[in-house]
Amino acid sequence: MNSRKVKMVTAACALSIGIAFTGNAIAADKKERSPASQYRHDVMEVVKYSAANIGQILRKTATPEEGDLAGYAEILANAAALSKSAFKPDTRGQDGFTEAKDDIWANWDDFAGRMDKFANDTRAFADAAKSGDQAKIGATVGEVFKNCKSCHDKYQD
Ligand code: HEC
Repeated sequence: MNSRKVKMVTAACALSIGIAFTGNAIAADKKERSPASQYRHDVMEVVKYSAANIGQILRKTATPEEGDLAGYAEILANAAALSKSAFKPDTRGQDGFTEAKDDIWANWDDFAGRMDKFANDTRAFADAAKSGDQAKIGATVGEVFKNCKSCHDKYQD
């Protein structure tokens, strides 16, 4: 093998070992979810991280050059709009970890209504953020975050 090939093989091995380690780390610190549980978990993670950056921008722990309120508000509104369909698969009695309570599917109309409200409230906030109007931003942000706790209190273990 010439040295270029050796380097390439070494790099490929390092990459695959890295991937294997990452995979193990994920498996070790998370309980196994079913595919449906994993999918909705991941949309909630998009909600979480966009909301976290919005919080940092509003609290001004992010500098103006880092912060893009309208950009993250748009990501949050999109993630919120995608959340209801992620919960459509009824996973009551499934094998695998979930924090979704059975009541979601026993009370689907109530849960779906909350998801619709969440999508509407985050859309109103994203539109306000895009306009840059501070009064509108202030008037819409509170509603966005009320949705999280009120739904989790009822439907998340
Ligand atoms: C209408 C209901 C509802 C709304 C609104 C909602 N969530 Fe959730 N969220 C859930 C449910 C149910 C779960 C559990 C999902 C599972 O484990 O399968 C969850 C899980 C999560 C998780 C953990 C990920 C997981 O699956 O373990 C985070 C983080 C999260 N939500 C953040 C948020 C934030 C932040 C907001 C508001 C900006 C929000 N959620 C709004 C219902 C909601």
